[in-house]
Amino acid sequence: MNILITGASSGIGAATAERLAQEGHTVILMARRVEKLEALKKTIEGQGGKALIAAGDVTNFNAIQDTYQNLLKELGHIDVVINNAGVMPLSFLKNGKVNEAHQMVDVNIKGVINMIYSALPSMMEKNKGHIINVSSTAGRKVFPSSAIYSGTKFAVRAISDGLRMEMAGARKDVRVTDIQPGAVETELTHTITDQEVLEMFEKMGEMEIMQSDDIARAISYAIKQPRNVNVNEILIRTTSQSF
Ligand SMILES: NC(=O)c1ccc[n+]([C@@H]2O[C@H](COP(=O)([O-])OP(=O)(O)OC[C@H]3O[C@@H](n4cnc5c(N)ncnc54)[C@H](OP(=O)(O)O)[C@@H]3O)[C@@H](O)[C@H]2O)c1
Repeated sequence: MNILITGASSGIGAATAERLAQEGHTVILMARRVEKLEALKKTIEGQGGKALIAAGDVTNFNAIQDTYQNLLKELGHIDVVINNAGVMPLSFLKNGKVNEAHQMVDVNIKGVINMIYSALPSMMEKNKGHIINVSSTAGRKVFPSSAIYSGTKFAVRAISDGLRMEMAGARKDVRVTDIQPGAVETELTHTITDQEVLEMFEKMGEMEIMQSDDIARAISYAIKQPRNVNVNEILIRTTSQSF
């Protein structure tokens, strides 16, 4: 299969690309940091896999749509789109970090919407496709400082469910999966600038967290199912994560 992964330059996206390439799929790597994508492509090819680079910013609808159309011309079909790109500059609303809030809405919600609008017409026409959205446990539960981040992930979950219902109603074999990871060791927390949030995390103490491949295996499971089996949601935490 041809599988496009956004946010493939690090963390969950990179691990998913590596795993899916090892399983024999051609992976299309999308993110902004081209040098990271080139390094990953080299690693995948070194393992005998196939990878293409489609550098891009998911917040730019026109550019994403053009890239998607060009890929379709080149490859004929894209079977799975994994909307994984996301940012998480957690902050308390009272601290006024409005630009970070806007960035979360732009990447985490509009980025997902932009890819869906780019991919859906050809998937519906072919009556075959799979859209996998990476939401979060924060898309089921809010905690102090996660108001906007959780808001974006609740939105992703709502969009996933709405899309699933629409495809079922239209009798289209376009599958929709919402992946909800708990804490995973990635670069995601590097964008937090709110000192109070950083201090709050320090006080929370040690909790065992997952590795990116733990999520990649769940994504692979959803893709492997027969064409009519739609894995709607997967929620994954470590045994030590209570919230
Ligand atoms: N880590 C966790 O604990 C956790 C838990 C639940 C859910 N998640 C979700 O998992 C997804 C992946 O995050 P991660 O943990 O793997 O973090 P990460 O290592 O920081 O990866 C985030 C990815 O998103 C990409 N990205 C950010 N802004 C982008 C943009 N405007 N256009 C295109 N790509 C963009 C980044 O690439 P570039 O900077 O190169 O563009 C990077 O590849 C996110 O949606 C996150 O919310 C993570």
